[in-house]
Amino acid sequence: MTKSSAPGKIILFGEHAVVYGRPALAVPVTEVQANVDVSESARKGVWIGAPDVNLSAELNVLPSDHPIASVIHNFLFLARVTSFPNLEIKITSTIPVASGLGSGAAVTVALTRALASHLKHPMNDEEVNAFAYEIEKLHHGTPSGIDNTVVTYARPVYFIKGQSIETFKVSKPFMIVIADTGISAPTKESVGDVRRLWMHDRSRWETIFDKIGEVSFTARRALEAGKPELLGELMNENHELLQKLTVSSQELDHLVETARRAGALGAKLSGGGRGGNMIAFVEPERAQAVSFSLLEAGAKNTIITQVS
Ligand code: MEV
Repeated sequence: MTKSSAPGKIILFGEHAVVYGRPALAVPVTEVQANVDVSESARKGVWIGAPDVNLSAELNVLPSDHPIASVIHNFLFLARVTSFPNLEIKITSTIPVASGLGSGAAVTVALTRALASHLKHPMNDEEVNAFAYEIEKLHHGTPSGIDNTVVTYARPVYFIKGQSIETFKVSKPFMIVIADTGISAPTKESVGDVRRLWMHDRSRWETIFDKIGEVSFTARRALEAGKPELLGELMNENHELLQKLTVSSQELDHLVETARRAGALGAKLSGGGRGGNMIAFVEPERAQAVSFSLLEAGAKNTIITQVS
């Protein structure tokens, strides 16, 4: 049996603007992960079991654009596998779907690595990342590539679309609380809506993207200089710019406000928006209290994670 896993991810700064070439900062979230086991099957065909999404089926009965089937078909094509192997593929994940934590990218990366290893088609990180980006494009329209990059390399990245991957140093560890609105919000939709806004009035939205890009740039400098205390204000500023982009929601704003009132130094939505997750920057001794207030205010789940 061949096993592989990949972590979730969270965007600290720069979502949406990153699609338009501005920098963004994202980090892996190892408290959640996708796991894939691949083994030989006694049955004919490629059998997929993914209980978290109620899937138990043979590959060929799935539509070819099914997110999991498309990874397998494209991998078999890439690896030039002509005669279909008999495989059992088991996929489990603790990353909530469509919540901004990179569940799709994590399943793609873990599945690709497990298949590559099991079918003896070695792939390095760069190849896995490029393959996962092609899969993201099939399902998410015009993704920047940040999700697959953070998940593949499993380290903090300062990401600019189309440029080689740049990691950054977190000189002083800090803590964030991640809270899930419980509302599933496909990234493709919010990214598509932002694109429509941008097509109608490019200069207006380019100005907002510039401001978001500046926030990301300043945040990176603060982290490298060991001054995470500057992140709070930057998160608040970034959230306001995302509200202007129309990708926040009542539920996200409510959790952001709740976190600030409970003592977080700053908070913002994270990822595609409209639902999914928000993050709050907290002092370690306030983390539990902020997490509790978020749950009381309606968050379906929280994760406290240290970024280091
Ligand atoms: C999604 O995690 C982040 C977005 O910026 C989309 C992307 O970068 O592809 C909203």
